[in-house]
Amino acid sequence: MREYDLIIASDGINSLFRDAQHNAFGVDVDVRANKFVWLGTTKVFDAFTFAFEETEHGWIWAHAYRFAPDCSTFIVECSEETWRGLGFDRMDQPEARAVCEQVFAKYLDGHRLMSNAAHLPGPAVWLNFRRIKCERWSSGNVILLGDAAHTAHFSIGSGTKLALEDAIKLADVLNRLRSSPSSPREGDQPKGGGAALSLEAALDEYQAERSLEVLKLQNSARNSTEWFETLERYAHFEPLQFAYSLLTRSQRISHENLRLRDREWLETVERWFWKRATGGRSNKTAPPMFAPFRLREMEVMNRITVSPMAMYSAVDGIPNDFHFVHYGERAIGGAGLIFTEMTCVSSEGRISPGCTGMWNEDQVSAWKRIVDFVHANSKAKICLQLGHSGPKGSTKLGWEGNDVPLDEDNWPVMAASAVSWSPVNQVPRPMTRADMDAVRDEFVAAVRMGLECGFDMVELHAAHGYLLSSFITPLQNKRTDEYGGPLGNRLRFPLEVFAAMRAAWPSDRPMSIRISATDWAGEDGITPQDAVLIGEAFAREGADLIDVSAGQTWADQQPVYGRMFQTPFSDRIRNEARLATMAVGNIYEPDHANSILAAGRADLVALARPHLIDPFWTLRAAAQLDYRDVAVPPQYLNGLTQLARNLKRDAEAAALKV
Ligand SMILES: Cc1cc2nc3c(=O)[nH]c(=O)nc-3n(C[C@H](O)[C@H](O)[C@H](O)COP(=O)(O)OP(=O)(O)OC[C@H]3O[C@@H](n4cnc5c(N)ncnc54)[C@H](O)[C@@H]3O)c2cc1C
Ligand SMILES: Cc1cc2nc3c(=O)[nH]c(=O)nc-3n(C[C@H](O)[C@H](O)[C@H](O)COP(=O)(O)O)c2cc1C
Repeated sequence: MREYDLIIASDGINSLFRDAQHNAFGVDVDVRANKFVWLGTTKVFDAFTFAFEETEHGWIWAHAYRFAPDCSTFIVECSEETWRGLGFDRMDQPEARAVCEQVFAKYLDGHRLMSNAAHLPGPAVWLNFRRIKCERWSSGNVILLGDAAHTAHFSIGSGTKLALEDAIKLADVLNRLRSSPSSPREGDQPKGGGAALSLEAALDEYQAERSLEVLKLQNSARNSTEWFETLERYAHFEPLQFAYSLLTRSQRISHENLRLRDREWLETVERWFWKRATGGRSNKTAPPMFAPFRLREMEVMNRITVSPMAMYSAVDGIPNDFHFVHYGERAIGGAGLIFTEMTCVSSEGRISPGCTGMWNEDQVSAWKRIVDFVHANSKAKICLQLGHSGPKGSTKLGWEGNDVPLDEDNWPVMAASAVSWSPVNQVPRPMTRADMDAVRDEFVAAVRMGLECGFDMVELHAAHGYLLSSFITPLQNKRTDEYGGPLGNRLRFPLEVFAAMRAAWPSDRPMSIRISATDWAGEDGITPQDAVLIGEAFAREGADLIDVSAGQTWADQQPVYGRMFQTPFSDRIRNEARLATMAVGNIYEPDHANSILAAGRADLVALARPHLIDPFWTLRAAAQLDYRDVAVPPQYLNGLTQLARNLKRDAEAAALKV
């Protein structure tokens, strides 16, 4: 490599080469919240061991694993609060080790803890993990490798593997370099074989391939880091569920992965889940998604729901034959609970001219026909979602342009404040108290009509930037009266509407609230922490279920998409506020649903788009998981049996190939 005069900087997390050119490498450092100290012990652990101990100052835990025939790594971690509470901030090395030996005595069997910095004077080396990312992995003649370029939290233990794979890839591209930087053209035959590369092309290939792998691991590592940072949230779980939550924390291991690793243990989890779900009536060994769930006097037969989805197909707010077939088909498709699309409480409250409504008798009889069919032909329950479009009203049908105003016949819109959804949308009229009275009464009237139709449940839509959401989010609510300002004020009107609806809805039937758990706007908008308070506020007014959606509350949102991307918000509300929640958002496989439910991240799982294309999603999942105790219309029984048989045969053939 002499001709090229390259420096390969593999000098670790504190890389001096990287830090000397901080801007050129585009270094991003995220200092995480927990404290950890890296210790060793002569106690040999036969398997990777997590030891969790509760102290009067909070939880502290160890990640312990053998790294040599006679030695184990023993990393002790806790929150900063616990760390200070236990006095670690004031202790030197031997004192800190002595406290850890005492706390973890039952795991150490008399073995001592050792520090690789024991000879150093001063306080014990407690660190905050630093997640490093670099936009560019090379600058001038310096090439970064391993921890110098990227780090992934030690709880997923992949740092060494990543560093070695970087080295292998770098060796590969450098071996393909053309003989000298000044050799005339690419394509010469290099020593390593293959077409010769320029240095620039070689480094591009190195970074492009490796950064993708690193990103995947860093995403999993972030989930795992966050799990340990919010561990107190799960401390009330029963040990079995706590262990399940721990094992699936990075989202790289799912329910079916666990089955492959330890079928017997997973079946213990499934039995535990069913026992809890049925109040001890059943301890079936079956997937969690098929276990029943109770809200007040309504029991849904399983945990899968058809999420609310506007069909933009009504005329004058009246559902028609399309809706009859659409909802009927999804009811017989096996989901336990079906939500209607956002059904509007007034003509002006519609999003588009195609939205369904609940403000007159024609609408009541059309909805009643649908509800009667669902009840007569399926075991599914049906929930009426009620909403008012507010600032996002008077727009085109979804497929003609989302949130785009009508070309003609627009109607005036209102909202919390005179903030338009986007520059092309109308500036809404800020609501007066008289407007609030009228809208509240429309919601109550719609609830009464819903009861007449026979709906099992009602949901209030307070998400996605529509009228009630425009009060909750500070990005839209600019009021200076008692309905604006702090969260408590912004919630005042939505809570008033909910309470009035609750009073009109029978006490034995449940109600839910749909919220946007984040505005995807950082600290300027609703944060997941606010969402916990919002969930609690509605629960105090009688909400039985928090339907946890996210975003769509302002036009410039910056969402972070991915599989199950909104589930962490449901997890947080469920386990911090201890409320029943429904998760939604890019959940599309039975394995996702089972993992979410068994890990206690939600009580119900809603799927929207998968149900658009496959009304029978739940029955298909039953066939795939070979679960037969599912409500299938007798007319369709043969189809389910055949599908289950074919899928089983395919799975067996695939296993043989492996
Ligand atoms: C607490 C903890 C536990 C971990 N556990 C695991 C695990 O179980 N499994 C796993 O795969 N990964 C684990 N990791 C991550 C793993 O240690 C690193 O990702 C891996 O060591 C990175 O390798 P590297 O070669 O890039 O850096 P390092 O292993 O840090 O090597 C860098 C080397 O450069 C040397 N150096 C630095 N500056 C200079 C200089 N100026 N001159 C000369 N030499 C210099 C250092 O002394 C060091 O030897 C853990 C990390 C932490 C913090
Ligand atoms: C066509 C369509 C219409 C929707 N209409 C509504 C609606 O009326 N009310 C609502 O709360 N959410 C609505 N949503 C959002 C979905 O309920 C769901 O939250 C979102 O699509 C994410 O879930 P998914 O990834 O399973 O599709 C709609 C989604 C789609 C795709």
